[in-house]
Amino acid sequence: MKGLILAGGAGSRLYPLTQVASKQLQPVYDKPMVYYPLTVLIASGIREFCLISTPHDLPRFRQLLSDGSQWGIAIEYREQPKPEGIAQAFLIAADFIGSDPVTLILGDNIFFGGDAFPRAFAEFQSGATIFAYRVHDPERYGVVEFDAEGRAVSLEEKPAQPRSNYAVPGVYLYDNDVVTIVRSLKPSSRGELEITDVNHEYLRRGTLQVQRLSRGTAWLDAGTSSSLHDASAYVQTIEKRQGTKLGCPEEAALYRGFLTLEQFETLVAGMPRCEYQDYLSGVATEVRRVGIQGA
Ligand code: DAU
Repeated sequence: MKGLILAGGAGSRLYPLTQVASKQLQPVYDKPMVYYPLTVLIASGIREFCLISTPHDLPRFRQLLSDGSQWGIAIEYREQPKPEGIAQAFLIAADFIGSDPVTLILGDNIFFGGDAFPRAFAEFQSGATIFAYRVHDPERYGVVEFDAEGRAVSLEEKPAQPRSNYAVPGVYLYDNDVVTIVRSLKPSSRGELEITDVNHEYLRRGTLQVQRLSRGTAWLDAGTSSSLHDASAYVQTIEKRQGTKLGCPEEAALYRGFLTLEQFETLVAGMPRCEYQDYLSGVATEVRRVGIQGA
């Protein structure tokens, strides 16, 4: 399965921070925001990525992530000249997707905990799989309604009167039909190719699976100054308490077998002396001692 990371958009809600770096490059505690969704996909076994951003911000992402080979993955880059909708990602990256299934993750969606994603990726065969997460303010999101048997029956984008408290987070798994589906979509009234319309089409076809994420999974939003601060505080709290870091692509690549321990150690040795390097050195020591247990 191929992986798309959508990291464009105007970032206007974080102005003036976004004058110098796009939203997905802002720090969430001790790492750039994009590390977190990237790590989720690496931990789920994705190895081939395409990152999509604005022509202005793309060079910065290249500088940060380069071609991915340092983590045993491959990253390509594509421009989205204007923010014309999340679903446009599938058109921009159509040549990268080829005839494969594809997952899309939004570059500002941050998840921790649980094994829902690696499991869903391992089990995925066809159609679409999306997720549902209980929130107190569903009107800000795509909202999914379930019937008494737990089947998804409706999907709406930012409804004024939500039919449930279940929001759809920004991780989507699709078979290759998604490219054809997006080609036939019309822009919505706000002029965007809507991801909810894609999911609607899979629902209409009877091939949409919606998996509820348990309360053991945290889904954080980092789209406003206040939620960005909260996300950083959350990461700091967990990292201090557990002595493990969240959102480290190096560590996920090691655990997933994309890097050998020797490659990992060389990578870590090349980093400047800092807390991040100390942490990863500790990971290497532990793996050398007891093998991979914390994956
Ligand atoms: O976070 C999950 C929600 O994401 C879903 O529940 C909604 O169904 C989905 O529409 C989306 O809602 P948002 O209001 O968060 O979408 P937003 O326009 O803020 O875009 C989400 C991210 O994608 C944001 O970081 C910017 C980026 N983006 C967005 C658009 C429309 C792009 O890179 N290009 C775009 O054209």
